[in-house]
Amino acid sequence: MEQAAAAIHDFNGTGLSILEIGHRTKHFQAVLDEAIASVRSLMQLGDEHEVLFLHGGATTQFMQVPMNLLDEQGIAAYHVNGVWGKKAAKEAALFGKVAVVSDSESNGNTAIDKAFEIPGEASYLHITSNNTVEGTQWHQFPDVAAPVVADMSSDIFSRPIDFRRFGLIYAGAQKNMGAAGVNLVVVRKDLLDRVSRKIPAIMDYRQHIAAGSLMNTPPVFPVYVSMLTLRWILAEGGLTVMEQRNREKAELLYQTIDSLPIFKTLVKKEDRSWMNAVFFLNDPALEASFLERCAKEGMVGVKGYRTVGGIRVSMYNALPLSSVEAICSLMRDFAAKNG
Ligand SMILES: Cc1ncc(COP(=O)(O)O)c(C=O)c1O
Repeated sequence: MEQAAAAIHDFNGTGLSILEIGHRTKHFQAVLDEAIASVRSLMQLGDEHEVLFLHGGATTQFMQVPMNLLDEQGIAAYHVNGVWGKKAAKEAALFGKVAVVSDSESNGNTAIDKAFEIPGEASYLHITSNNTVEGTQWHQFPDVAAPVVADMSSDIFSRPIDFRRFGLIYAGAQKNMGAAGVNLVVVRKDLLDRVSRKIPAIMDYRQHIAAGSLMNTPPVFPVYVSMLTLRWILAEGGLTVMEQRNREKAELLYQTIDSLPIFKTLVKKEDRSWMNAVFFLNDPALEASFLERCAKEGMVGVKGYRTVGGIRVSMYNALPLSSVEAICSLMRDFAAKNG
């Protein structure tokens, strides 16, 4: 954040702000090149995948993915485990047929269903790798014949994965990568050119590939912040180090929840998210005073999502272990006083 703030005043000694440099200058090209090279290196991608930085949030990809990959007569499989997957499936239905192959709403979205089947002719299977709102996460990815499209908005770069197995990966930048306003899209080139519809230029992955993510003015500042964060991840030791830290944070928090009867989580153990722990107070009447205590100790943003309620502690890459230790110690103290 300090580097990003400094670049607003003077970007790399150019005397210009990052907010005013031309996007077709060598200065910005170097930023974009480094961002793309860092993604390639962290994901260990080969030539079959292209890396794009595109406008918008993940919600834009809910539309852009089917527009590019799903023909009107085709069918796409959607595995729905929460609000974001549900929205993605709804958007896809505007472009072709959608088979919802699993929907965990009836069990409160507290587990990831692994026993599902997809239609043989499916153009792709869409999953949400981490359900930000409900606190579930895929820890082993499905092995299916169709290309897998994953919304990784809330756990991108949090752990090493065999990224090359995916047909398409997208992520809004704002959780583990950068500032809101840009999407990372990693797409297998051979999946393009399979639909017959006309695609507006700004929505067409092929045209963005041809233009090197510079078809029009890109979101310069969010790309710059993403580049800095990717540089930081690499300097810290890459995804193996991110995984170690995220595992340690998540284990500590879930152990604390499990050890204190005043709290409970409904999420199935094997599907617990390392990024977002969703839990409740057994006595809902205590929730307000727990949140008040958190706020008093400077722990903000821990109220559960409006549709789920309870508590949600997000532990993205940037959150240090000490912050998790702090909330765990608060939880123990709160339990001792209210148990
Ligand atoms: C998994 C997931 N997908 C999609 C979105 C929507 O992203 P955006 O607000 O960038 O459109 C979010 C936002 O939190 C998310 O967590």
